[in-house]
Amino acid sequence: MNLLEEQPIGIFDSGIGGTSIWKEIRSLLPNEKTIYLSDSFNAPYGHKTKQKILELSIKNTEFLIKQNCKIIVVACNTATTNAIQHLRQNYNIPFIGIEPAIKPASILTQSKKIGILATKGTLNSELFEKTSSRIDQEIEIIEQIGEGLVELIENNQIDSKEMYNLLLSYLQPMIKENVDCLVLGCTHYPYLIPKIREIAGKDLKIIDSGEAVAKQTKKILKERNLLSSKTNAVNESIFYTNKSKTVLESILKEYTNVIIEEKDF
Ligand code: DGL
Repeated sequence: MNLLEEQPIGIFDSGIGGTSIWKEIRSLLPNEKTIYLSDSFNAPYGHKTKQKILELSIKNTEFLIKQNCKIIVVACNTATTNAIQHLRQNYNIPFIGIEPAIKPASILTQSKKIGILATKGTLNSELFEKTSSRIDQEIEIIEQIGEGLVELIENNQIDSKEMYNLLLSYLQPMIKENVDCLVLGCTHYPYLIPKIREIAGKDLKIIDSGEAVAKQTKKILKERNLLSSKTNAVNESIFYTNKSKTVLESILKEYTNVIIEEKDF
């Protein structure tokens, strides 16, 4: 049986960050098979040119299409904001993207000041500029490039002093400006939430789009009759990384039916 609805959901990111999205998908759609590409060899995407981000996104997409994926989740803000338009125009498969959730933050904020932490590639993209220009002009958006954060996360350095100091230097100016909502505009950053709380306290609202992406994936699969008909099994999740699999193994250790392989793609 090779029914399209039983084919996997393909997910890619510049590295391990998109696993924060995979976790939401796994929890909402446990019966779906997934294939996750961690392009850690090329991480970070955030400093690369739009053309390079596009080339890498095409490479990842074509690999996932070859694996017969039925839908592709671009679990990377940098790849979404720089490449999704091109991907949608050129491949006959549904794509789900992720963008910084500044709209929900603009509704939630009381101080009318929101902070956003994202990569240079995301903050400088046309798509982000378009989205932020639609936000109520009364609201001030304080943008901060998360220089160095992705590299430290990829190298299992979340609890390092260097990470703490970098986060402190990025968050302190926002706290001084009375920001009450922080948008995490990179799928690696949800792994930093405990550190951000340590620095900023419990009142700061931290917003990321992982759950919304999982819900949107389910909605599109349902609309296109592509949801798996399996109902009682947690389905297999395959992770391919083109670097060492140690970090993936550690962040996925509590999950069952997970296969992690080192592979060039
Ligand atoms: N997870 C990617 C994102 O959401 C990280 C970008 C990078 O590799 O710089 O933007």
